[in-house]
Amino acid sequence: MSASHLHQIIATLPLQRGASEPLFRQLYAAIKAAILDGRMSPGMQLPPTRDFCRLLAVSRQTVLNAYALLTAEGYLDGAVGRGTFVSVEVPMAAPPAKMEAPGLLRPLSARGQGVVTAMRQVAYHRGPLRAFRVGMPRIDHFPFDVWNRLEARRWRRPDHHFGYSDPAGYLPLRELLCVYLKASRGVQCTPQQIVITSGSQQALFLLSTILLAPGDPVWMESPGYRGASGPLRAAGARVFPVPVDAQGLDVAYGMAHCPQAKLAYVTPSHQMPLGVSMSLPRRLALLAWAAHNKAWVVEDDYDSEYRYAGAPLASLQSLDRAGCVVYVGTLSKVLFPGLRLGYMVAPPALAEALVQAKAVMDRHTAIVPQMALADFIAEGHFGRHIRRTRDSNAERRDLLVRGIARELGDQLACGPADSGLELCAYFRAGHDEETVSRAGLERGIELRPLNHYADPAAGPECATPPGMLLGFAAIPPAEMEHGLQELGRILRGR
Ligand SMILES: Cc1ncc(COP(=O)(O)O)c(C=O)c1O
Repeated sequence: MSASHLHQIIATLPLQRGASEPLFRQLYAAIKAAILDGRMSPGMQLPPTRDFCRLLAVSRQTVLNAYALLTAEGYLDGAVGRGTFVSVEVPMAAPPAKMEAPGLLRPLSARGQGVVTAMRQVAYHRGPLRAFRVGMPRIDHFPFDVWNRLEARRWRRPDHHFGYSDPAGYLPLRELLCVYLKASRGVQCTPQQIVITSGSQQALFLLSTILLAPGDPVWMESPGYRGASGPLRAAGARVFPVPVDAQGLDVAYGMAHCPQAKLAYVTPSHQMPLGVSMSLPRRLALLAWAAHNKAWVVEDDYDSEYRYAGAPLASLQSLDRAGCVVYVGTLSKVLFPGLRLGYMVAPPALAEALVQAKAVMDRHTAIVPQMALADFIAEGHFGRHIRRTRDSNAERRDLLVRGIARELGDQLACGPADSGLELCAYFRAGHDEETVSRAGLERGIELRPLNHYADPAAGPECATPPGMLLGFAAIPPAEMEHGLQELGRILRGR
């Protein structure tokens, strides 16, 4: 959006001078309405307050008061000297028809346009933690003192690894991951098949970039993880939404409607967002289809460390006899997302190609965090941290499930809650997801609507009952209690 367009929106905000409602409240309501109906979109920078005052002929205090209210309610984000922005957490009303790039002398390339629009609507965490933020592990459980000591030790003794090092990643770390993945997930590999990445996001981008040509059909779970459909779209792939039911991805549907897909993306241990795990017959059917069609299967095993009941099914990779599965893992859930460490395990020939692609992209992932992680695993802190955090997550999961049953049993039905950091809660009384989510933001709680994960192009076969994804692992009990109270008020219309 151009600055003049934004100024036009602001200049026409409805304000009534002399009305009983103070001007700052009117301004607050008008900006909020413009955000919610999509005239002001997430990430947009608002003009400096002095421009705002001039455009509307109001005092600076009026604008500051309105901004303060909107910031407190999560509509705006800002800091002194950095500017004020529409929060990226606010759900967009409708995507603009095409991405404008103000100030660009030449248009983006078609490929560039695909890349910059592929994850436009993916929010990132802003502001302090609050109920029921998704995607966050319990960060206050992380032994930062230990990590600090391990990193400091490495900083004190820089060695040849501090130059340009192996694009595949720090070898001792790959060796340790190899042992860990074999023991915990049955993954069959050698350290040479592991490539360390900057989070699983980079793994998904590299895989999409080197395996897919524009127009290639790919299967994507629907509803599914946008962090994965983004790189697929950025590569120009034709993303084909495949429904998910209680047994996971509906392989028969994919085979019937898009048999020639080049790649399938799946979260078989714990489907994102529905939380189901893929049944063994489906796993075998998926592998047989991929082997027969020479398709790739990307197994995203993002939070398999956290399982609270029953033995986990072995990874899909462990069942693969045809070398078609690429296993993608992350440290974002088991440690924390800001660390940006992930990895992929690929069949040997593909691993070599991925190492070359990784070198093109960023040479290699930063070495010191890789070294600290290797020490963290080798000295037993990793295993201890997982055990401690698993217990804490299970307690918080129980708190949420019991709280919903106690206070909101007539309003919500919980989906599977036997693993992960979040759970699905479906509306029993036909609430509208967007309305509930917005009401949540107004009351300072985050309620991620399930339709966030839906592919707009998907047919009715992919429809899921309306509901929300509620994060629990990172949410302290008092905040969770507060969130449940607010959620109850919203659902009961109070
Ligand atoms: C399905 C899925 N995969 C992977 C990730 C983690 O991505 P990254 O490793 O890039 O932080 C997430 C985070 O929410 C996720 O939901």
